[in-house]
Amino acid sequence: MTRFDDTSPMNQSTRILTGITTSGTPHLGNYVGAIRPAIAASRAPGVESFYFLADYHALVKVAEPARVQRSTLEIAAAWLACGLDPQQVWFYRQSDLPETTELTWLLTCVAGKGLLNRAHAYKAAVDRNRGEQLDDDAGINAGLFMYPVLMAADILLFNAHKVPVGRDQVQHIEMARDFAQRFNHLYGREHFVLPEAVIEEQVATLPGLDGRKMSKSYDNTIPLFAPREQLRKLIFSIVTDSRAPGEAKDAEGSALFQLYQAFASVDETAAFAQAYADGIGWGDAKQLLFERIDAEVAPLREQYEALVARPERIEQQLQEGARRVRERYATPLLRELRHAVGLRDLSLRTDEAPPAAPATASLPVFKQYREADGRFYFKLVQGERVLLQSAGFDSPRDAGVRVAAIKGGHYDASDPQVLRAQGVDADDVRAALALMAESEGAGS
Ligand code: TRP
Repeated sequence: MTRFDDTSPMNQSTRILTGITTSGTPHLGNYVGAIRPAIAASRAPGVESFYFLADYHALVKVAEPARVQRSTLEIAAAWLACGLDPQQVWFYRQSDLPETTELTWLLTCVAGKGLLNRAHAYKAAVDRNRGEQLDDDAGINAGLFMYPVLMAADILLFNAHKVPVGRDQVQHIEMARDFAQRFNHLYGREHFVLPEAVIEEQVATLPGLDGRKMSKSYDNTIPLFAPREQLRKLIFSIVTDSRAPGEAKDAEGSALFQLYQAFASVDETAAFAQAYADGIGWGDAKQLLFERIDAEVAPLREQYEALVARPERIEQQLQEGARRVRERYATPLLRELRHAVGLRDLSLRTDEAPPAAPATASLPVFKQYREADGRFYFKLVQGERVLLQSAGFDSPRDAGVRVAAIKGGHYDASDPQVLRAQGVDADDVRAALALMAESEGAGS
């Protein structure tokens, strides 16, 4: 199978980037809401996908090294077991890219502090402190405050076009756009693409064991790869109402039903709804749910267990992913950005063009035309400035042959039929011709 061409200089596909914070164990809600749809999306044509383990972000909340390490392994293994193909997508670990932290600093220096003050997560922490009559910033680390800048670096490092996120992350994408825009403005050109949030409106949020949204913070999750027996036990512990077997049950608002629907086909779901109406007992409904989930998860679980048993292989895959993505994107970008901000080789002249600067100055062009005297002329102009003016030729072909000769490197400064305009010397003409040749070479 061939991947997107990672050697071609211009990749026209849409770049989609997803970061997963490595602070927990993947659960069914992550699977249905993020992993399953993201892997399906990564197989669409015309997209170039980036998936990375956001382990620097994990440090903002988790100060347990073993947990960060374990979570990184589990999340990497989960995505691979669910079918993420590192030959088709970029798959790497954030902390393997030194360019991430380097870019974070460059962005920090353009980020408005006032904007960061308004970040939801930081503000919520301040509000909690105020609620408890504490100092505004009590117990708040600067990592929480800087979180949006680190996240912007993740995104801008690859000039991602689209970032699929939940509602709670939209503000972060807006901030990334703001930093990118300020940087572009301050440093003179479009270094960064402005990323767009893709809000996952229709993505299912699964209910957890207690009926609230399944989430680590509610401690109501069902681990995606819980062993079969534990999965069974957890499913049997899902809260239900007290209706007895034989009594009709409401599918609407039933956590059990929503979970079933997330794994079942339309037909299976209709049959389950019928069973509710017919008064299926909760125990039987739970058994059906367990079997349905296990049917989908069991083959993935087997993969997962095999992967987790050989962490050195995942380690190697991640390092290889980081090596390739750095080489292709991160390292050249940082080289450009360092130059742009003035972190430069001291031997370069300060007015020297940055590497890979686009040709924004107007390029010289030859213009051919016919005058009222019926003869054919040409001139070489750059912007408003006329460099060369020809005498009249008998035919357009004669004029064209002379233009081609000059463009082809045979400019003769003493040619009486090709005169320089006032104030233009032969070196000006040669420089203009060189610029033309260069731009034509680059465009072909
Ligand atoms: N903050 C994201 C979350 O908690 C994780 C993340 C880190 C991320 N960097 C990112 C997501 C870049 C998208 C793009 O879910």
